[in-house]
Amino acid sequence: MNTMQAIVFEEAKNFDALRRKEVDKPQPKPTEVIVQIKACALNHRDVWITQGLYPSIKVPIILGSDGAGFVEQVGSDVGKQWLGKEVIINPGLGWGDNPRVQSDDYRILGLPDNGTQAQFVAVPAANVLTKPAYLSFAEAAATPLGGLTGYRALFTQGQLQRGQNVLLTGIGGGVASLMLQMAVATGANVYVTSGDAAKIDRACHAGAQGGVNYKDKDWPQTLNKLLLNSKVANKQIDLIVDSACGDGINDLIKIVKPGGRIVFFGMTKGIPSKLDVGKLFWKQITLQGTTMGSNADFAAMLELFQKHKIKPTIDGPYPFNEYKLAYERMMSSSQYGKIVLEVD
Ligand SMILES: NC(=O)c1ccc[n+]([C@@H]2O[C@H](COP(=O)([O-])OP(=O)(O)OC[C@H]3O[C@@H](n4cnc5c(N)ncnc54)[C@H](OP(=O)(O)O)[C@@H]3O)[C@@H](O)[C@H]2O)c1
Repeated sequence: MNTMQAIVFEEAKNFDALRRKEVDKPQPKPTEVIVQIKACALNHRDVWITQGLYPSIKVPIILGSDGAGFVEQVGSDVGKQWLGKEVIINPGLGWGDNPRVQSDDYRILGLPDNGTQAQFVAVPAANVLTKPAYLSFAEAAATPLGGLTGYRALFTQGQLQRGQNVLLTGIGGGVASLMLQMAVATGANVYVTSGDAAKIDRACHAGAQGGVNYKDKDWPQTLNKLLLNSKVANKQIDLIVDSACGDGINDLIKIVKPGGRIVFFGMTKGIPSKLDVGKLFWKQITLQGTTMGSNADFAAMLELFQKHKIKPTIDGPYPFNEYKLAYERMMSSSQYGKIVLEVD
C-alpha cells in the first residue's frame, strides 16, 4: 500500500482548505523510521498555521506535532529491533548539542516536515522513544509537545521546587493542563487562572490550591486574598508560567514575589503595548523565555510521567474524520486538556 489518509492543509490562510484526503505514504531515509499513527493531538501551533499566523508557512502540508503509534518501517541505518515497537514521538527535530538553546537547524514536526495528522509519518529514529506501557495511544499522543514545553518551562527554566508556589495562567490550555499535573506531582502548590469557572474547578480537583478568573479586572487582588487565606505557609508566588502575554504581563510582574521568576512561551494575547520595566528591575524579577525543549528535557519529562504515572487530561478523543470540530474547539478555547484525534 503506497498511499495513506491524511489531513492536508492545502491553501494558506484558508481553514476550509484543511481536508482529509489520500496522499503518498512516506518512505524512510536511512536514519528514519515510519510510524503508523494510532492517535495524534492538536497544538495551538496547528491553528496558528491555518490562520496564517506562523512564520514560514508552506502548503500543501500535513500538520501535527504530536503522535504515538507503531514503528512500521525502518531506514537502512536503523536497527530492525524497532520494528513493531509502540512509540511516542519527540516532535523537536535537530535541537543540537547546546542545552541552553536550540541549533539553527531546529524545527518542529508538522511544518516544514509533514506531521502526525496522518496514518503514517517519517521521523528520525532519534526522535522515537518507547511508549510508556501505562499510557494508551491517545494519552501518549497527548503528551509530547505540551509535556516537553511545560517540563522545560517549569523545571529547566523555572527551577520549580517542592513547596514553592507556582501560578499557571489559562489552565484550560493543552500545555497548562500538563504543567498542572507535573507541578502537583512534584509537590509544588499550584494556583491557576482561567476564563471559565468550570475549568478552575476541574483544576482544583486535579490538585490546584485555587484559581481566579482572568476576565475579572481585579483578579490579581483576588489571587492575593486566596494566598493570604491559604493553609500553605508560603504566601507569595515564586514562579509564574504564562503563554498569553499581551498587556496582561504587567499584572504578572505585579503579582510575582520580589526576586521571583516569570517564564513565558507564547503570546496568545499578542505583544504587550507596554512593559512595566521599572517594576521588573526594582523587584529583581527574572523574565525568561522558553521554547520546546532539548532531547534531555524530553527524556526527563517522560521519566517524571512514568515515576508519578501521570496521565494527560484529554479532550476527546475524537474520530479522525472530526478534525474540523477538533480545530474549532481549540479556536474557541472550549477544550480542557489536550485535544486528541484517533487515527483509523
Ligand atoms: N514556545 C513554545 O515552545 C510553545 C509550545 C507550545 C505552545 N506555545 C504557544 O503557547 C500558547 C498556548 O499553547 P496551547 O497549545 O497550550 O494552546 P491552547 O490549548 O489553545 O490553550 C490556550 C489557552 O489560553 C488561555 N487564555 C486565553 N486568554 C487568556 C488570558 N487573557 N490570560 C491567560 N490565559 C488565557 C485559555 O485558557 P482557559 O481555557 O483556561 O481560559 C486557553 O485555553 C499558544 O500561543 C502556543 O502557540 C508555544
